[in-house]
Parts: sequence; C-alpha cells; structure tokens
Amino acid sequence: MTAERAASNPETEDTVTVTFNKTGKSHELRILSGTAGPRAIDVRSLYAETGMFTYDPGFTSTASCDSSLTYIDGDAGILRHRGYAIEDLAEHSDFMEVCYLLLNGELPTTEQKDKFEHTITYHSMVHEQLLYLYRGFRRDAHPMAILVGVTGALSAFYHDSTDITDEHQRMVASHRLISKMPTIAAMAYKYSIGQPFVYPRNDLNFAANFLHMTFSVPAEDYQPLPEVARAMDRIFILHADHEQNASTSTVRLAGSSGANPFACIAAGISSLWGPAHGGANEAVLNMLQEIGSKDRIPEFIERAKDRDDPFRLMGFGHRVYKNHDPRATVLRTSCNEVLEALGVRDEPLLALAMELERIALEDPYFVERKLFPNVDFYSGIILKAMGFPTSMFTVLFALARTVGWVAQWKEMVEDPNQRIGRPRQLYVGPAERKYMPPDERQ
Ligand code: CMC
Repeated sequence: MTAERAASNPETEDTVTVTFNKTGKSHELRILSGTAGPRAIDVRSLYAETGMFTYDPGFTSTASCDSSLTYIDGDAGILRHRGYAIEDLAEHSDFMEVCYLLLNGELPTTEQKDKFEHTITYHSMVHEQLLYLYRGFRRDAHPMAILVGVTGALSAFYHDSTDITDEHQRMVASHRLISKMPTIAAMAYKYSIGQPFVYPRNDLNFAANFLHMTFSVPAEDYQPLPEVARAMDRIFILHADHEQNASTSTVRLAGSSGANPFACIAAGISSLWGPAHGGANEAVLNMLQEIGSKDRIPEFIERAKDRDDPFRLMGFGHRVYKNHDPRATVLRTSCNEVLEALGVRDEPLLALAMELERIALEDPYFVERKLFPNVDFYSGIILKAMGFPTSMFTVLFALARTVGWVAQWKEMVEDPNQRIGRPRQLYVGPAERKYMPPDERQ
C-alpha cells in the first residue's frame, strides 16, 4: 500500500492546519501514513497555495519518496528489508537471496533462487574491450576513481539495456550491474597492484568468486576458508540497502531525469565515496593506524570532542541510528569469528578498536549525543584481516550496495507518479543589481 492510498483511507486519514500568524490565513495539509514509522505531512500543495517553500537542508525532516524496500527505526536500532529483520537475513539467508528479495519483493523459492543465481553468474564477465579502459588509468589511481569511471562507461558497452522505458531492458541492466560489479571491483584492485586480471569462475558462489578474482593469480588459485567466504557474503548482506541515504538519494535524483541505470549507479558510487558515508570504513582504519597505541586514545577522544578541531571519531555516529546500528552488532560477532578462523585473534588493531569503543561509550560527550559504533567501525578490521588494502574498503561497500541502488532506481522508474527531482532553495544572494561598466565599479 502506498502512503498516498493509506491517506485516502477515511480510517487513517488525518490533516494538519498551518496558520500564518500575521495574515491569519490557514491551509489544510494531508498527513500520509506508511505501514510503519513516522507519518509525513504532504506539503506538495504548499507552494501553489501559499507561494512558500519548506526549508530542510540535510533533509532531516523530509521524506523524499515512498518506498516498500527498506524500513529503519533509528531509535530502536531496527533495519528490515521487505519486512525481514537484518539479523535474520544475516544469519539464515545469503546475498543472492537478499538481492532477489530487494529486486522482486519476496524471498525466492528454490527454483527461483537457482534461476536468479544462474543469471547473475552468467553475466559476470565484462566486455573484453573494457580492459583497455583500465589501462588508461594511472597505476596509482584510487580504486574508487576507477570504479566510478568504469561503471559510468558500462552505458557505452551495453546499449541494449539503456532504454529505461522497456521493462526487459531494465531487468537486464539490473542483473548486469549486480553481476559485473564484483568483476569490475576486482579488476580495479588487480590493476592498482600490477597483477593480471582474473576472469570470473562459474562454479563459485557470488562471494567466493569475488574473492577468487581479487586474490587468485595465474600461478596459484586462492582458496578462501569457508568462514572467510561466509563473512564476505554477510558483509554484502549488511550493506545491501539502507533506505534513502546520500548515495541512494543521488541514484534516485540522477535517475529522475531519465538517465540510464549505469550512469545513475556511477553517480551513487561518487556520493558513497565521501568519508561521512561509505568512505568511513577506509577512514576508520586510517584513524586506528594513526592512533597507533592504546595510550594515545584519550588524545584522539579529546580531539573528536573539540569543536575547533575538524577531527571526528570515524565509525561513530549515524544520522538515523540513535541507539545502536544493528549491522554493527552483527559485524562485531563476525569480526571475532573471522579473526579466529584466520588465526589473527590478537590483531593489535582489533584490541585498539575495542578499547576505543569502550572509552567512547563511557564518555558523556558520546553518550549524550547518542554516538555509537556504526557498521563501518568493524567492517574495516575484518576486511583488513581478509587481506584487502584500505583503498578497497569503500569499493566493497559499493559492490554490495549496487543491488540496493538498482532496486531503488527500479522502484522509482516504475512509479507512475514519478517526476524529475527538483528541490528549490531559499535565495540569500544579492537582490537585483544594475550592471556597471568596469570603470564605474568601486
Ligand atoms: N565524532 C565526534 N563527534 C561527532 C561524531 C563523531 N564521529 N558524529 C557526530 N558528532 C557530534 C557532532 O559534532 C554534533 O555535535 P554538536 O551537537 O555538539 O554540534 C553531534 O554529534 C550531532 O552530529 P551531526 O554531525 O549533527 O550528525 P549528522 O547526522 O549530521 O552526521 C554522521 C552523521 C554519520 C555523518 C556523523 O556522525 C559522522 O561524521 N560520523 C563519522 C563518519 C562515519 O562513521 N560515517 C559512517 C556512517 S554509517 C555508514 C553509512 O551509512 O555510510
């Protein structure tokens, strides 16, 4: 049920009246209800009726769309995809099943799952010509820079899936993006370390195949431990979608103009790159390395609290979660399992992270502001133990989030009420001025 339909139900219909104090004029606005979470005041008629906009930089009080994909209750620490709790999915499901769920709305039957997995597996190779595109990048290019460029370039390679008005082409583009992203990501890594590209293998599952393309070399196949492959899959599940965050909103905004899906996902990857968003996992590890030892933690905690210092405790805080990040809770356990399996239980960075977490969680500054470790706090430690360099951390986030971006893009394109996204502004620049010739300017 869309919020629109819920609001037209007389049993749930509610309104709010806005009265302007100076003129005494009133305007009635509808209140829309979803299936869970805060209701939303429908302000769409406001400008036409009053000539005024609403003002909400950072969109802290704005629902930009209705969506049936993902539900978050930040106060209760709840994250659900299509109604299923993330903890349940992380424990009992796998990434392919979660992809199917996000794209199609329901968990697959065995037959549907086999077919979907087969489709994703058999789209994982990339056009051979794409290899030359990589060679145009400097060897020391950041893999995220390569990922943005190559993903955008997919629209130049797969012309038969860029017509967004064709349902079949939309589906093919969705499958291509999900299945080719691990190949593109692994190639970005191989290129940056000067090793040959490794082709995908159809006998491996999604996570194991990605590990193979990343860590195998022609001279030796990489055999991941089952715990490592499982943890990789779980990391993908935990990052699959997260409602209307910055990168997803970017994908939707780019897509609202009718741009092709490859270009939209490249836009999402760019937005994810920043340290306040997906770039935080890389920033966490860099921060832990900079702190270096437990005795320096208090110094960094003080810096994080100092308003005049731009330093922030990376991996702490979240716009929505104000109790705990359920993804972080799952990853904390996973982190211990992986380090145990890899025999690096006494990894000094983990000990440092645990001590930092303990001290921050007892500090009134973090407690009062409800700043808890987020998903990025632990993912970096696991990824490092698996052998990924820090520059690949955000790439992995992008790889996993591709399904969320694609599903959100599809939902938007298939919405009959969809219009181009076009926010307005509160103009604060100069009022009208007369042009003066240079010799008359002050
Ligand atoms: N270290 C120190 N102080 C912080 C931190 C932090 N990590 N995060 C927030 N604060 C303070 C902030 O200075 C402000 O204090 P005051 O009220 O005195 O001005 C208060 O807490 C509220 O913060 P905010 O900046 O208004 O919150 P926001 O919702 O705009 O920002 C955030 C959310 C995630 C960008 C921010 O917490 C942050 O920069 N965290 C570090 C980066 C990080 O870990 N990002 C990953 C997010 S989870 C993965 C993802 O979704 O991409």
